Amino acid sequence: MLIVGASGGVGTFAVQIARLLGADVTAVCSAGKASLALRLGADRVIDYTKEDFARGDARYDLVFAINGSRTLADYRRVLTPSGRYLMAGGAWPQIRDGIFVAPLLSIGSRQKFGASESRATTRDLVHLGDLLEQGRIEPVLDRRYPLAQAPDAIRYIEGGHAAGKVILEVRDGA
Ligand SMILES: NC(=O)c1ccc[n+]([C@@H]2O[C@H](COP(=O)([O-])OP(=O)(O)OC[C@H]3O[C@@H](n4cnc5c(N)ncnc54)[C@H](OP(=O)(O)O)[C@@H]3O)[C@@H](O)[C@H]2O)c1
Repeated sequence: MLIVGASGGVGTFAVQIARLLGADVTAVCSAGKASLALRLGADRVIDYTKEDFARGDARYDLVFAINGSRTLADYRRVLTPSGRYLMAGGAWPQIRDGIFVAPLLSIGSRQKFGASESRATTRDLVHLGDLLEQGRIEPVLDRRYPLAQAPDAIRYIEGGHAAGKVILEVRDGA
């Protein structure tokens, strides 16, 4: 499995859950966050500032595109003949193509392309809660902000380089 955007709020969970499910995980993030991705269970890291995964020889059964702005053609190139591509986010072209173009690419192909939209169900949340309680996955927390500084927190997230989740603290009376 290839996870592009492995070091952010979504990616740090994706790496851990993929590993838990037995996937061999290649994480794409910058060098500064490589040790984080490896600690979370990635088998190897591709530093996107130095290496282009789309030009490599590796092929993946599953590509999870969380961040960045690579084209669908890039992702298609690295999929196995019956591989799957799932877009979660990234720059607007990646989101647009994931929603509107990806389903068309799936027609008549063994490769499948689609977009993910998180819909939390009680069952999923209870399962994730159990995994957290058992220490089988961990939340990676970057910065914490009091609620009054929510605009700063959002600006930081919008910068696109958080390592894991950014926390807004809501206290009684806040
Ligand atoms: N589909 C859904 O239901 C759903 C749910 C939640 C979020 N999303 C979307 O998913 C995307 C990611 O969310 P997030 O919370 O994980 O974001 P995030 O925490 O802001 O992601 C930041 C991480 O992305 C990495 N990154 C930045 N540019 C990259 C690139 N070109 N290639 C690989 N990694 C790169 C950064 O690493 P470096 O600092 O090392 O560059 C950083 O660790 C957003 O677009 C968000 O809107 C979708």
